[in-house]
Amino acid sequence: MAELTSRSDTVLDPVWVDTRRDAIATAETEPALASMLHAHVLSHDVFEDALSYQISQKLGSDEISALSLHQVIDQAIEREPSIAVAARADLSATFERDPACHSYLEPFLFFKGFHALQCQRVAHHLWANEHRFLAKYIQSRASEVFGVDMHPAAKIGRGIMIDHATGVVVGETAVIEDGVSMLHGVTLGGTGKEGGDRHPKIRGGTMIGANATILGNIEIGKCSRIGAGSVVLENVPPYTTVAGVPAKVIGGTGYEQPAMAMDQQFLDCTGSERSQ
Ligand SMILES: CC(C)(COP(=O)(O)OP(=O)(O)OC[C@H]1O[C@@H](n2cnc3c(N)ncnc32)[C@H](O)[C@@H]1OP(=O)(O)O)[C@@H](O)C(=O)NCCC(=O)NCCS
Repeated sequence: MAELTSRSDTVLDPVWVDTRRDAIATAETEPALASMLHAHVLSHDVFEDALSYQISQKLGSDEISALSLHQVIDQAIEREPSIAVAARADLSATFERDPACHSYLEPFLFFKGFHALQCQRVAHHLWANEHRFLAKYIQSRASEVFGVDMHPAAKIGRGIMIDHATGVVVGETAVIEDGVSMLHGVTLGGTGKEGGDRHPKIRGGTMIGANATILGNIEIGKCSRIGAGSVVLENVPPYTTVAGVPAKVIGGTGYEQPAMAMDQQFLDCTGSERSQ
């Protein structure tokens, strides 16, 4: 797909075209949602404007209005076009990997994992451009509204899916590379014993199961799988599945891209299914 660089590049924007098409169809079948669909999708000419409106509506409060936040977020997205490029990739990731997701419109409107990610992307831009207090405000509001606490300094790639999302915590020096999938309750935290660079580095294509806790400045090799409920304290080699407390290697992954497959069966190193 051609890289999207222009806010008016709608012809090359299939995610936005599909989102609008589904919003029009839904407004006809669900009249109760028509005005919401108009405000959040159909009244905007380009994806960037709809994204900015959507996030500001979610974060607005008595302290800082949605209108004020809209201006801040609009400016961030204008100055850093990669935010909206990544947001499109996150929508595609969710649509492709989540069997409960049937359109781009659903995560755009309703999935708080998607919303929380876009807040972090905006906060990350503000953090890097000397607006650290504003970045922390957005982190704090996102944490209140979505129950997802991701530090603005964390480096997060594109095409990320955070399914269900409640309780996800991502620390300041964490790195999440492109194409990672994770479920609710995941912690990418410090052990409490180290300062400085103290959080996990999650390489591309990894799938992290619900409530997994990954602690310390350790590396989770690309295309690995972390079992639900695991506590991971050591490096994980690429293409490896670990599980347990503390987590141990239990096999390979059987997939080139576990985050894409989202298959949560455990496989041994030869790729065949483990007996129960
Ligand atoms: C428990 C903790 C404080 C480490 O304590 P420690 O005494 O220094 O422990 P060590 O790292 O030396 O590990 C000692 C053993 O306990 C195990 N262990 C350590 N933390 C563990 C945990 N959370 N769960 C299960 N086992 C754990 C280690 O695998 C190791 O086992 P081994 O001796 O068989 O190899 C730390 O691992 C921890 O859990 N910190 C909490 C951090 C947290 O909540 N972070 C979230 C931030 S958002």
